[in-house]
Amino acid sequence: MPNYGFTHAELRNNQEYQRLRQELVEAGELMNAYSCALLEVKSKLDILNEYFSQYGEQNPINDIQTRLKRPDSIYEKLKRYNLPITIEAIEENLYDVAGIRVVCSFVDDVYRVAEGLMAQGGIIVDGKKDYIMFPKENGYRSLHLLLRVAIHLPSGKKYVKVEVQFRTIAMEFWANLEHKMRYKKDMDESMQEEVYKELRRCAVMSNELDRHMQELRYKIEGAHSSNQRDLSDITGSFSLPPMDDDIPE
Ligand code: GTP
Ligand code: MG
Repeated sequence: MPNYGFTHAELRNNQEYQRLRQELVEAGELMNAYSCALLEVKSKLDILNEYFSQYGEQNPINDIQTRLKRPDSIYEKLKRYNLPITIEAIEENLYDVAGIRVVCSFVDDVYRVAEGLMAQGGIIVDGKKDYIMFPKENGYRSLHLLLRVAIHLPSGKKYVKVEVQFRTIAMEFWANLEHKMRYKKDMDESMQEEVYKELRRCAVMSNELDRHMQELRYKIEGAHSSNQRDLSDITGSFSLPPMDDDIPE
């Protein structure tokens, strides 16, 4: 086997190499644990979807996407948060190495499925960011859960961090397009500002759409209204922070 000039004996005695190798082995195990955590949460969500479908609802979940964060993106995040570039720092601080996106039909489904997941055994909820009740300044909406999920390996039980993002189809539509446009770098400043404002307007429209669809659903299901909630409880007041030119002179 080629070893690019080092003999096996040299490599065996090279501490730097041994440390790197060890870290890679450990990272391999860790990444494997993240994959298992994704499978575990995905399966809990599939079961919830099945359960809700059995009890008279259409499938509340439209789509589930899972992904592992790429090494370059992990590195970038560690740098951004000024964390040490170590496996331990990844394990301790990053919730989104394993990420799941759950796209639901209606806003009330988002909360119903999220609550169902949080209530499950083997799940520890470390954080919740409700950008539906409190949208981001640019209009971004989604419900984020920062979880630890128990996975069972031959070596024993291990809790692994996972970030789950819940959103409606309308929220997903907005977030996807916003993400694409954010990376268009060849715009001058005034154009960027214009696009930002337009995207905020679209976010307001997307929230309107969610409210209308939810109202329609309540109307259709009027007869069996036990699951209904106050609309403002689930779609928020959508009070985006005012921008300078939103305020009339
Ligand atoms: P990072 O942005 O990854 O550093 O995460 P954070 O710890 O600041 O958490 P935050 O809740 O702000 O964002 C987590 C994830 O939500 C992001 O990685 C995106 O996937 C998504 N997200 C947050 N804000 C936006 C946004 O304005 N637009 C879009 N398209 N996605 C967003
Ligand atoms: Mg962020």
